[in-house]
Amino acid sequence: MTDHPTVALLGTGTMGSGMAHNIAAAGLPLRVWNRTRERAEELADVATVAESPADAVAGADVVLTMLFDADSVADTMAAARAGLEPGTVWLQQSTVGVAGTERLLRLAAELGLVLVDAPVLGTKKPAEDGTLVVLASGPTEVRERVAPVLDAVGSRTLWVGEAGAGSRLKLAANAWVFTVVEGVAESLALTRELGLDPRLFLEAIRGGALDAPYVQLKGGAMLDGAFDPAFALGGALKDADLILAAAQTVRVDLGIIPGIRAHFARAVEAGHANEDMAATYLAH
Ligand SMILES: NC(=O)c1ccc[n+]([C@@H]2O[C@H](COP(=O)([O-])OP(=O)(O)OC[C@H]3O[C@@H](n4cnc5c(N)ncnc54)[C@H](OP(=O)(O)O)[C@@H]3O)[C@@H](O)[C@H]2O)c1
Repeated sequence: MTDHPTVALLGTGTMGSGMAHNIAAAGLPLRVWNRTRERAEELADVATVAESPADAVAGADVVLTMLFDADSVADTMAAARAGLEPGTVWLQQSTVGVAGTERLLRLAAELGLVLVDAPVLGTKKPAEDGTLVVLASGPTEVRERVAPVLDAVGSRTLWVGEAGAGSRLKLAANAWVFTVVEGVAESLALTRELGLDPRLFLEAIRGGALDAPYVQLKGGAMLDGAFDPAFALGGALKDADLILAAAQTVRVDLGIIPGIRAHFARAVEAGHANEDMAATYLAH
């Protein structure tokens, strides 16, 4: 076992790019692959940019996936098949939900890989700063092997159980994030439509028990129209659907998420899929 595992990172989008920088900065040998090659090329100074998923994973100790959804992860890992060696650790960090993780666990078994299900909390800035919170789950015996990677991308790793547990906790955490974002959007819209300057809402709650840095950050972005994506609305809509699907299987009657999902979908239909989820304010 090595303290410096070679990492193949598949998916250098908003999150994957920041994570790649921190993995390289920790001194771990790194190969990257991205469907749109130009996005991976930005990492050429710190990583080897691979032509294909199979080239990226050949000889890697840890394969890290940070792609959009379960379909894109499954397709990419299938394309990597020729380069994969049995027993390699697959660190799956994309948000894929409950059924998605079960599907990827089956794929891991078929490919002979050991899956560590480790979605993250935090958006673009924590990914760039290496301060994500990792909700890790998987076999105890590979935890040490992935520790150098998790330490590089996050400030904290919570080991929460067998593979799949991390993805379940991630859904609960995202339900909370969406509740806050949508709640701020609604209070701002209400303030505005009741004939007041919406900034007065943020001012009124500032510093009180129900304020939070995130509330002021997202509320300010909504009012400034600053929708550069930290977490794109299209991804948030995907995750709202994952939450609803998971809740249905365990018969939890969610009161808030269905309404949030409808507003996210409305904003996506209005053309804001690639803007930050704060753009849900535009659906009000
Ligand atoms: N942003 C956040 O705040 C945040 C926080 C926690 C977790 N997450 C989760 O982390 C994952 C990545 O999110 P992100 O914000 O980095 O998204 P992103 O910027 O949209 O990047 C998505 C990545 O997936 C790739 N991709 C999409 N469809 C693909 C396909 N069919 N085949 C191969 N590659 C495909 C994209 O490639 P191209 O460049 O070619 O499009 C890109 O590399 C998602 O599961 C998201 O839910 C995001």
